[in-house]
Amino acid sequence: MSSAPSRAPRCDQTVAWQALMGHAQAHGRSMDLRALFADDPQRVQRLGLAAPEVFADLSRAHWDMATHKHLLDLARECRLEAQRDDMLRGACINGTEGRQVLHTALRAPQGQGPHSQAVHEVLEAMLAYVEGVRARAGGTQPGDIRDVVNIGIGGSDLGPQMVVPALEAFVHPGLNFHFVSNVDGQDLASVLRKLRPEHTLFIIASKTFTTQETMANAHAARQWFVEHGGHDVAHHFVATTTNVEGARAFGISTTFGFWDWVGGRFSMWSSIGLPIALALGAEQFRAMLAGAHAMDQHFAQAPLESNLPMWLGLLDVWYRNGLGYSSRCVSPYHHGLRRLPAYLQQLVMESNGKSVDMAGQSLPYATCGVWWGEPGTNGQHAFFQMLHQGTDVIPVEFLLVRRPSHRDAAHLSPALKALLDEQHDKLLANGLAQAQALMWGKSTEQARTELAPTAGADVPPEVIARHRTFPGNRPSTTLLLDEVTPHALGALVALYEHRTFVAGALWGINSFDQWGVELGKAMCKELLPRMADGDVRDLDPATAAMICRLRTPGGA
Ligand code: F6P
Repeated sequence: MSSAPSRAPRCDQTVAWQALMGHAQAHGRSMDLRALFADDPQRVQRLGLAAPEVFADLSRAHWDMATHKHLLDLARECRLEAQRDDMLRGACINGTEGRQVLHTALRAPQGQGPHSQAVHEVLEAMLAYVEGVRARAGGTQPGDIRDVVNIGIGGSDLGPQMVVPALEAFVHPGLNFHFVSNVDGQDLASVLRKLRPEHTLFIIASKTFTTQETMANAHAARQWFVEHGGHDVAHHFVATTTNVEGARAFGISTTFGFWDWVGGRFSMWSSIGLPIALALGAEQFRAMLAGAHAMDQHFAQAPLESNLPMWLGLLDVWYRNGLGYSSRCVSPYHHGLRRLPAYLQQLVMESNGKSVDMAGQSLPYATCGVWWGEPGTNGQHAFFQMLHQGTDVIPVEFLLVRRPSHRDAAHLSPALKALLDEQHDKLLANGLAQAQALMWGKSTEQARTELAPTAGADVPPEVIARHRTFPGNRPSTTLLLDEVTPHALGALVALYEHRTFVAGALWGINSFDQWGVELGKAMCKELLPRMADGDVRDLDPATAAMICRLRTPGGA
């Protein structure tokens, strides 16, 4: 049975918060990374922390050991460990929806953690199904699956969509994966172009089985299936949902359930992970769960002083409230992790983009900033200009992976692998260099001495030198993985989940509801018939005028 969470003070109601804000006033803006390193030869050791599968170098973050101490004091005074324990034991911490928050139970070994029996029943059934599909995957007989189309959006899309390419080296060679989320028909249409119904499996993934985009795409996919001679809907459509009745009403008989205590953005460990399991197979899916569980154990057991999700969540709060940073760039130097920034956008911003506390009081301080990013090295040729020389300080989180994922590719010759290994050195060197350049910068004096005599003939050298100056002292964090395996990726994602929880718990918000997405959905329902009949009475003038233009060919 779930119980009420224990009481904890909001961050700003603590003595530690006053001390932290005082520290920010006195030292925050004047912190210079170069001086911090010069003053503390042990800084790298002090601010490096290992957790399962992930090593974090936080020495290039804008904080010092005094900041760190204030943050740990804040964590203690906000009873962060008790708040964590409340979540893990299944207290009803999602108060606005009256729910437990137990995504950690999805990756606990059998017999451990809340709801274990139900969790493992569904897991076993799903993995047995997966092995059946994989046994015939890529075959030529009707019913042999070659293409898997996941139709879902938000938390029913982003996890599998991020993980499958990240673990490409582990994916069944006979299966292609497609992810359709947008209600824009182009999304589904372009996927369908390549498919044959007799070799396609559609997964309709929706926690509620009511989401407009997913239902629209599911109906369209079924129509395409029938139009193209597909029969045996039962074999070619499965649903992953908490609304098994809804799926049955749609006509899907094979369903894998989950529960209301799994938030959408925390659901890739549940049956929403079916595309991942189909891609990797039962053993590697279990390895991913085990990796996440290892991080859960670390989060649950490591003392505050060496608990990586705690440190990262505390750093996030310090950046937002102590230093006023409103944005965070995530830059994975790993092509497979290219969708990680998109995944984190939902995880972090849907969780912590809130402005009232659990008691409904408006918050007098900032909460979640903007999270965004692109994989390195691509980002370097786009927005890194701003990171180095723009007016805002935007902390960057680099993700580096020691072992390249191309290493095990069967279609590459040893000579080609050697070439690509060299590219991996280039990739890592780029990531290291960016963190270095952000921190060290380049003085105008240095820039002046580097100018060729002919540079910018019409512009005075001093002006050119100013343009080639880098302020430096731009902070970054680096997360290092040995390799992107299912186990390691499970641990990494769980790390981000817990870090998000930590920041939300300190801010006193409910990180597990998402009322902010509801208003637009309701208004869309109201507008939809008006798009068809053109009735714009009682609408605001801007919306009314735009509907009229949309209904007029050439009105743009
Ligand atoms: O857009 C909000 C949201 O409710 C997300 O939280 C959720 O992950 C997504 O929509 C999809 O919802 P469902 O899985 O119910 O289709």
